[in-house]
Amino acid sequence: MSQKFVIDYLKNVASDSGISTDSDGLISLELAEKLNEKDELAFLRNEFFIPKMGTLPEADSAVIDPEEESIYLCGNSLGLMPKAAKKFADQQFDKWAKMGVFGHTHGPVPWALCDEECLPGIAKVVGASDISEVAMMNGLTVNVHVLLTAFYKPTEKRHKILMESKAFPSDHYAVESQIRLKDRKIEDSMICLSPREGEDLIRNEDIIKYIEENGDEIAVIFFSGVQYYTGQVFDIEKITAAGHKKGCIVGWDLAHAFANIPLYLSKWDIDFACWCTYKYGSSGAGGLAGAFINKRFKSDKRERMLGWWSHRLSSRFTMDNVMDLDDGAFGYRISNPPIFLATGILGFLEVFNKTSMEKLREKSLKLTGYLEFLVNFHLQKLSEISKVRCEILTPKDPEQRGCQLSLKFNFDIAEVYKQLVRRGIAVDKRYPYVIRVTPVHFYNNFTDVWRFVKQLVECIKEFS
Ligand SMILES: Cc1ncc(COP(=O)(O)O)c(C=O)c1O
Repeated sequence: MSQKFVIDYLKNVASDSGISTDSDGLISLELAEKLNEKDELAFLRNEFFIPKMGTLPEADSAVIDPEEESIYLCGNSLGLMPKAAKKFADQQFDKWAKMGVFGHTHGPVPWALCDEECLPGIAKVVGASDISEVAMMNGLTVNVHVLLTAFYKPTEKRHKILMESKAFPSDHYAVESQIRLKDRKIEDSMICLSPREGEDLIRNEDIIKYIEENGDEIAVIFFSGVQYYTGQVFDIEKITAAGHKKGCIVGWDLAHAFANIPLYLSKWDIDFACWCTYKYGSSGAGGLAGAFINKRFKSDKRERMLGWWSHRLSSRFTMDNVMDLDDGAFGYRISNPPIFLATGILGFLEVFNKTSMEKLREKSLKLTGYLEFLVNFHLQKLSEISKVRCEILTPKDPEQRGCQLSLKFNFDIAEVYKQLVRRGIAVDKRYPYVIRVTPVHFYNNFTDVWRFVKQLVECIKEFS
């Protein structure tokens, strides 16, 4: 797949709408509005609270209309709030006020089972074969530890963990500490793969080659499904297959993949995965995280971190201190589930259930492709009359990316970023040169993208 599919789509919509198909037409606001009209998922936007410019803390009332909707392109960091989340939270506050402890087993969403209420929807989002493969529990990094504690069992011959050199810091620290906790040395047991010299992305083929050549020493392969900084989608299926061929356990951090790209975790036969839900999953800051355990391990009793919630429900409350370990992912739970984190997930799932990952992906390819087209067009123009250069770090192939584009500039973007924020825009900075811009298929539209690129170009002209 290439950029061409987006340009063809833009031209089709333009010509159907009587808009010129030359570059003036393709970059017009009129076309962005038509693209919104054609968007079959446009109705989902109304399921979310879209912050007004005036309520963003750093927007400057001198340059914005406080009543206008902000340009929120930061769902890679924190997704916007589904209106249904408030409904579920209010319901549960009410229940708590009215029935106290009885709420564990009575009323809507009994608290003791609130994580399980989320599972049918979550299993669909990640492509689990059934709910026994998934659990909602803890935060993401805690789940990295829970899963590595269970699946990283180093031996003299096979003791390495393979990951990427630019993994998210929390994953890096978690892996380091897991290695040390098993009395091994980081220098011996941690392998961090880097991109080739002069490249920003690690090639899938290089990962696979490394596994083929060194897999006998690798205990666990642990990569992210979507790289947080570049937005690159790794080839989960092929890397998993290569790892399995060499006898490695293959686990995935899907923080930036969950609800961003379609996942088929069962079909891809991965061993385990974990993810947070507050990015594309819009569950709220610090929201309840997820875990996937392949059904191959359903009855396996491997040593792990245990608590009373790992115990099968039928005998959990006998309290005889004899562990009756639950099957599948349920047996990895430790604590009783937090209802006020489950409400965020339930709110998100109410929206998700109005569509599917496949439909969302179809929209996302167009939305992010449109962003790429406008950025390339305007920044190319700007480079002809100035020293400004912008490179998109994210892969050009739409199949190898999700919603996010990472824009890298040849100047410090601190001032431009400050000005964007003043103008009611939420994007994500990685100083000194990169901003991550993420139109999300759930609530963003084509005019958000258009308005953003217009402001970006103006800010660069004025402040770079
Ligand atoms: C890839 C990745 N791993 C780990 C984390 C840390 O997540 P948490 O603070 O929810 O444990 C993040 C957070 O953004 C992330 O993107």
